[in-house]
Amino acid sequence: MYKIAVIPGDGTGPEVVQEGLKVLEAASRKYRFQYETKVYDFGGARYLKTGKTLDDKDIEELKKYHAIYLGAIGHPDVKPGILETGVLLKLRFSLDQYINLRPVKLYNAEFCPLKDKKPADIDFVVVRENSEGLYKGMGEFKDKGTKDEVAIQVSYNTRKGVERCIRYAFEYCRKRNKRKKLTLCGKTNVLTFAWDLWERTFNEVAKDYPDIATDYAHVDATTMWFVKNPEWFDVIVTDNMFGDIITDLGAMVQGGMGIAAGGNINPGGVSMFEPIGGSAPKYTGKNVINPLAAICALGMLLENLGEEKAGQAVERATIDVVTGKLKSLAAGKMGYSTTEVGDLVVENL
Ligand code: IPM
Ligand code: MN
Repeated sequence: MYKIAVIPGDGTGPEVVQEGLKVLEAASRKYRFQYETKVYDFGGARYLKTGKTLDDKDIEELKKYHAIYLGAIGHPDVKPGILETGVLLKLRFSLDQYINLRPVKLYNAEFCPLKDKKPADIDFVVVRENSEGLYKGMGEFKDKGTKDEVAIQVSYNTRKGVERCIRYAFEYCRKRNKRKKLTLCGKTNVLTFAWDLWERTFNEVAKDYPDIATDYAHVDATTMWFVKNPEWFDVIVTDNMFGDIITDLGAMVQGGMGIAAGGNINPGGVSMFEPIGGSAPKYTGKNVINPLAAICALGMLLENLGEEKAGQAVERATIDVVTGKLKSLAAGKMGYSTTEVGDLVVENL
């Protein structure tokens, strides 16, 4: 019996999560596993009502689950930063979800903004470090508000934190068993402390994986190659900030936020799966948002639980919808409503 905590969150989060749960129900019948869900109202609406984001008791409670399914966090009436750090980053950090796994896969060339790129050209995975770097929140103001003000934001990288991320990426690349190439994406030419540690660790860990080819790309060049030669990539490992940036570009080359999913993974604990787009307030309640990113996230959740067949079947059912019926992956332009797209995936499944 899998216990799954569901956090629909804000904006269109609840609408896309509902479709994901429909697919979960269908998958459980077909693949004969049992699960129970409990819904939590963490997010902007609760914050506006109670002033609460997430406390340690909430985190302890979430630790009892096998997985967490998240819609979106972000509310137009809440000042930027409060929900991001108080809910999303708090979940990632407190549950030590130190990997952010973001597959970039093109299912239908028609939805790719790049000229002449086919699904075979865009099929890679970004392993983003998810617990350190600039996201650590370390830094200070000096002489705040004066003309001599200095703001310092620290990128915090530990050998242990970097090594566990890099090892995960090598293992993942081996298990994925495609081109067996791992690219380190960094900025060794300028950020000479952080990326010296990353590069040394990468080269040392690489010795344990002679079957995996290694490569290095600066982050600026990486964005260029995502557009020019995405077929060069298999698995990419990078830090928290660079991973955040390059995966938005990755989402676009795979067809947009409507299809991009990710997992916040603690290999020894509770992992959390989410569509990587935001809460899209302007589409809320209109039944027009694309639920496929949330459905893909559900597929990743199932694989993570060990229901690999079910997870792969969800992906195949999604591919059939993306290549068969949809006119577009963008909200309001799909030719189908949110709920209809969920139904199409269930039918395919
Ligand atoms: C993401 C988001 C978050 C991040 C924000 C909302 C804190 O952009 O999941 O990529 O920066 O990690
Ligand atoms: Mn982001």
